[in-house]
Amino acid sequence: MRSFHDIKGFAFDLDGVLTDTARFHAQAWKKTAEEVGTKWTDELAAGLKGISRMDSLEMILKAGNCEHSYTHEQKAQLADEKNEYYKKLIDTLTPEDILPGMAEFLMEVKHKGYKLAVASASKNAPIILERLGIADMFDAVVDPAALKSGKPDPEIFVRAAELMNLQPCEVIGLEDSIAGIKSINGAGEVSVGIGDKDELYEAAIHFASTAEVSLSAIQGDPYFSRSNL
Ligand code: BG6
Ligand code: MG
Repeated sequence: MRSFHDIKGFAFDLDGVLTDTARFHAQAWKKTAEEVGTKWTDELAAGLKGISRMDSLEMILKAGNCEHSYTHEQKAQLADEKNEYYKKLIDTLTPEDILPGMAEFLMEVKHKGYKLAVASASKNAPIILERLGIADMFDAVVDPAALKSGKPDPEIFVRAAELMNLQPCEVIGLEDSIAGIKSINGAGEVSVGIGDKDELYEAAIHFASTAEVSLSAIQGDPYFSRSNL
């Protein structure tokens, strides 16, 4: 049973939680899908969220039954092309692009003394955090290149807790992806899902959008009141 009073830190996904770059990833992968002849569907788009660059490419190739049609080098080239296109899309990011409510939420939790970490699968995370002007707010940013397994494996959220010097049970993780929620739950942290409720049904706590996220809304969620009974 969890009590909100045990919580000492927050681990944030980046794309789709702190800023709306999830749509840029989708836009760039859709282009790749068209190039390799994979049909772009809502289901494929949802399944790709939170997934590392090379795993995403493999999923797209598999969805088009063409995972064996490309050499290792060709796959690396497709992933590079996607990343170059994606980097152009994020080039214009500014602090204005922090999703509604999240700058306030970061300030609120920081001010109250919680530890903060970023648990993003993206190798572009450090540059995005700089562009958003929030890089200094975090005690730790997990380096996805140093991980053995990507989301939905729990490793990234376990690492985020370690870097904050906290136990997983003291951490709340915030995510917009199915893979990310599975990762948080697998790590033994409290999962907050932001977005489509049907998609994120495994989240312990759910918000339809970032604008609804606040410390009081999390603390007052039935998940914690149920745990405190
Ligand atoms: C995740 C995104 O945060 O990062 C995925 O949700 C993306 O869509 C992954 O594929 C890896 O990002 P990058 O920037 O390293 O290609
Ligand atoms: Mg995300």
